Amino acid sequence: MSKSAKQEINNKMEKLMSLLKRRGFIFQSSEIYGGLQASYDYGPLGVELKNNIKKAWWKKFVTNRIDMVGLDAAIIMHPKTWEASGHLQNFTDPLVDCKKCKRRFRADHLLEAKSLEPGYDKEKPLQITEIPCPECEGQLTDIRQFNLMFKTFMGSVEEDASVVYLRPETAGGIFVNFKNVVDTMRMRVPFGVGQIGKAFRNEITVENSIFRTREFEQMEIEYFVHPDEWQEKFEEWLVSMKEWCQFLGIREENLVTREIEGDELAFYSQRTVDFEYKFPFGQKELYGLAYRTNYDLTQHQNFSRQNLEYTDPDTKEKYIPHVIEPSLGVDRSFLATLLEAYTEVDGGRSTTTKSIKDMEVMLKIPYELAPVKISVLPLSKKEPFLQTAQEIIKRLSNDYNIQYDITGSIGKRYRRQDEIGTPFCITVDFDTDEDNKVTVRDRDTMKQERVGVEELEQYFASRLK
Ligand code: GAP
Repeated sequence: MSKSAKQEINNKMEKLMSLLKRRGFIFQSSEIYGGLQASYDYGPLGVELKNNIKKAWWKKFVTNRIDMVGLDAAIIMHPKTWEASGHLQNFTDPLVDCKKCKRRFRADHLLEAKSLEPGYDKEKPLQITEIPCPECEGQLTDIRQFNLMFKTFMGSVEEDASVVYLRPETAGGIFVNFKNVVDTMRMRVPFGVGQIGKAFRNEITVENSIFRTREFEQMEIEYFVHPDEWQEKFEEWLVSMKEWCQFLGIREENLVTREIEGDELAFYSQRTVDFEYKFPFGQKELYGLAYRTNYDLTQHQNFSRQNLEYTDPDTKEKYIPHVIEPSLGVDRSFLATLLEAYTEVDGGRSTTTKSIKDMEVMLKIPYELAPVKISVLPLSKKEPFLQTAQEIIKRLSNDYNIQYDITGSIGKRYRRQDEIGTPFCITVDFDTDEDNKVTVRDRDTMKQERVGVEELEQYFASRLK
């Protein structure tokens, strides 16, 4: 790829991040204190988009399916959970330090970057010590394994007996509740449990804004199956995950599914397919689909000494169910949705006025996910414009997130709404008082329609619900 093409795509990330800051989607955490590295807060519009993504996921995968139920488990769990799951021992990343500048790096990332360099000889095994520090060219140490779990203390005494961990994946809470769910909900295999929640990893390197952070959110499903049917169910989940990506607006050409092999497989997985997205900073993991066998339930059965077997009500066969796990990051969903939605229109969108010739930006976020659904824009700050605008807000705000904007020319107000991805703008204009109709403008087509104030609920019900 040419240097200018590279600059252009990195620019896209920079331009998007600047828009997200300017328009209240994402802020640096604790900014007034200089910020905390790789920690982000979701602003007023960011939280709406994030909640809409979570709501849509919950609806598609939990409430719309009779073979699924939901759960909201605690973040801090009994420390034995992580001993049993293998995280205490195996949840590590390879770490190297620079002997000169003391910076830390993930060895696997450095090796991967080296292997992508032109002229790299794939036949020759590469040693990490042959790679210089990317920051200062100093010498790197040998690789050590670094456990990614955040450790803290429970209660008032800071001693070994009170050590607990912030969960590194939400999955753990589902496995330890397997028996509770089967007993209380009378679920029959195959069935799944979905959960959305925070997870924490003390990542060695954090990068690319919300792509890799130490505190993030996951939407995970543990889908319990008979061992004979795991392949069939795995294929079904591959299809469902692709549908989900489409729903977010991810173009087919930007999504790659990759079979994970050998050392790259997580310690609990027998098969994993990564869903990789072509981010401006490289093709990287968006989601993962893993076949975890009956590893987790078996481990928890052994460590807890509780019987976690399932008895088939028809055949009376007893077995420990196997698990298919579609695991989705909320923050990466948010980023991919916005990267897909980010659109620049050279020369402006308006075809009716010759005066607007700047480049305009719009977010073509799928309507269902847009943070603000409708913006109400009275053309005058006088009555009866304002009163009519308030009446419209009253009619619609129970069903939709509404913005009210009375500042600036109508063109500027449309541009502001396009920039945050608002699907519809309602203009209360100079004819409204006479015909009790308003102008509704569609974000994508810019088509304008006159709609009666009393018909607005019905008009949007067919377009937004
Ligand atoms: N339970 C399986 C599991 O946690 P994972 O591949 O380690 O698998 C699943 O994580 C998803 O969580 C990833 O595909 C990604 O979307 C998200 N994720 C993982 N680490 C993350 C991080 N440090 N920052 C943001 N998202 C992360």
